Amino acid sequence: MCGIIGYVGDQSALDVALQGLRRLEYRGYDSSGIAVVGAGALRTARRAGKLANLEKLLAESPETDPMPGTTGMGHTRWATHGGPTDVNAHPHTDCTGALAVIHNGIIENFALLRAELEAGGHELTSETDTEVVAHLLEAELARVPGPVGVAGPASSADASHPLTGALRRVCRRLEGAFTLVVVHRDYPEVVVGARRNSPLVVGLGEGESFLASDVSAFIAHTREAMEIGQDQVVEARRDGVAVTDFEGQPVDNRRYHVDWDASAAEKGGYPYFMLKEINEQPTALADTLRGRLSADGAIVLDEERLSAQDFRDVDKVFIVACGTAYHAGLIAKYAVEHWTRLPCEVEMASEFRYRDPVLDRSTLVIAISQSGETLDTLMAVKHAREQKARVLAICNTNGSTIPRESDAVLYTRCGPEVGVASTKTFLGQVAACLLVGLFLAQVRGVLYGDEVAAYVERLQRMPELVRRTLGRLEPIRELARELADAKAVLFLGRHVGYPVALEGALKLKELAYMHAEGFPAGELKHGPIALIEPGLPVLVVVPSPRGRANLHGKIVSNIQEVRARGARTIVIAEDGDLAVEPYADHLIRVPETTSLFAPLVTTLPLQVFACELALARGLDVDQPRNLAKSVTVE
Ligand code: F6R
Repeated sequence: MCGIIGYVGDQSALDVALQGLRRLEYRGYDSSGIAVVGAGALRTARRAGKLANLEKLLAESPETDPMPGTTGMGHTRWATHGGPTDVNAHPHTDCTGALAVIHNGIIENFALLRAELEAGGHELTSETDTEVVAHLLEAELARVPGPVGVAGPASSADASHPLTGALRRVCRRLEGAFTLVVVHRDYPEVVVGARRNSPLVVGLGEGESFLASDVSAFIAHTREAMEIGQDQVVEARRDGVAVTDFEGQPVDNRRYHVDWDASAAEKGGYPYFMLKEINEQPTALADTLRGRLSADGAIVLDEERLSAQDFRDVDKVFIVACGTAYHAGLIAKYAVEHWTRLPCEVEMASEFRYRDPVLDRSTLVIAISQSGETLDTLMAVKHAREQKARVLAICNTNGSTIPRESDAVLYTRCGPEVGVASTKTFLGQVAACLLVGLFLAQVRGVLYGDEVAAYVERLQRMPELVRRTLGRLEPIRELARELADAKAVLFLGRHVGYPVALEGALKLKELAYMHAEGFPAGELKHGPIALIEPGLPVLVVVPSPRGRANLHGKIVSNIQEVRARGARTIVIAEDGDLAVEPYADHLIRVPETTSLFAPLVTTLPLQVFACELALARGLDVDQPRNLAKSVTVE
């Protein structure tokens, strides 16, 4: 939700901002804008629509350098307050045009603040909540003017840079979630940022500093980064940064080296990030498992901040997540309950937070989030910790908020995911959940060592099975192109195939804008079967014939039921499963796996199906309409 880049250094701030925005556009693409301070002036440019519109505007400028200066910032927007228009595009300026603000998040008390500002004579021109910050800063700077260290109210720390002090005081008045970055015409030596419940990281370069929503925005310049914690303000200068809390107390934040480089955030020869990321799944999976499966067949999670005893004390597991990450959690439930015999509930984070889940010190809450910034999940984490539950985050983004707010973190090592629809990180999340499930069973002694070792051995083979599956998906690509004009698709599954069906339906909805629903195949006869009409494509994820109870036989019956009513059946079944052949209008084969690991391969044809169908409809699979990669509002 909104991408932010701030810069101070020796390079053209316009170039740095544009380059950063190209990397951040996946976070929102309703509008974009840039502000640059240089030659005694503050210049801004902004445009509704994708970044290309802003680039066009700048290219049409008669000046060779339309925005000279080496201090500046850029913003790409996912609209919340106010439609996606030029006027609502960030940056927003104050009445004097001396300062500019960009923002990610929602300022919940903006209506009150706006009324107060208007009563005080400020003229606000947009419908956004952000604009109040520009005017509040203007008022603060007027109230406490003066050069660095000279003027300042009660708090000693407010005797710092005037812009930093003003931002701190303004932040104390704001409610909601925000990352803010500010530049000022009269202070080209600084870019100042603040955050509460929205992401902000610092890039520490040689003679230059960056503030950004995520490291991809500055990775081409530096791989040295610093986290910014909750309720903190950062003053960035060429030679480094100073961080304080909102009261002005200095804080010392963790610095880290980013372990991937700029090429990982490029398309690498693919026309879309999504295609690249689908094909990166064998590596993403192998990297997530790396070092966590020991040669003697045990699970090693030594980066945990929770002890083995903490895991032994657990008597209940809750998994909280949103969207695709929630589907990974649903898969985990089958594994955790089967292996550990602990009760395990999975809930959408947005719902978990607002009921009264019964949690205590013996509850393990697993929060799954690719970005580590999803506000619904973050709020669920905070709620769980307030109830004294222990929280383990499964996350793909180093330096993000959810791991920092949790007791422990297990990183999926999938590398940056730029395509808005999650693919490789879903596989990473499923793998991480399987590791946690096995680890719990191992430390609690529920599974024998040789049982764990057998699973470890099979997990080690999964990246290769994923690679082989990806190599044989041409038939589903062809079918997707053939079905480009279909009105709807149903997805059915049983056991772990059910969350896979949900994930397949979600991918199709978000990429192809097509009506798609996932159901447990057994639930079909309780209502959804009424949807079946001649020619309706029904995609069925079939469990292994060697799997649990007679699930396979039951799903074969379900396939017959929909086929008898005219559905066109697309069956995902493992090699050697002959029983499904007579009932499959289209049969997509995947390699044999252990039942609980099957989602790692059965998901792949569904991802490819959605992606190819969307492409056949002429849609942009990297930036589907109305979506943003990182959802930092509730
Ligand atoms: C769908 C998708 C979303 C995310 C969800 C949670 O393809 O990507 O449903 O899974 O917004 O995001 P994270 O994992 O960043 O918390």
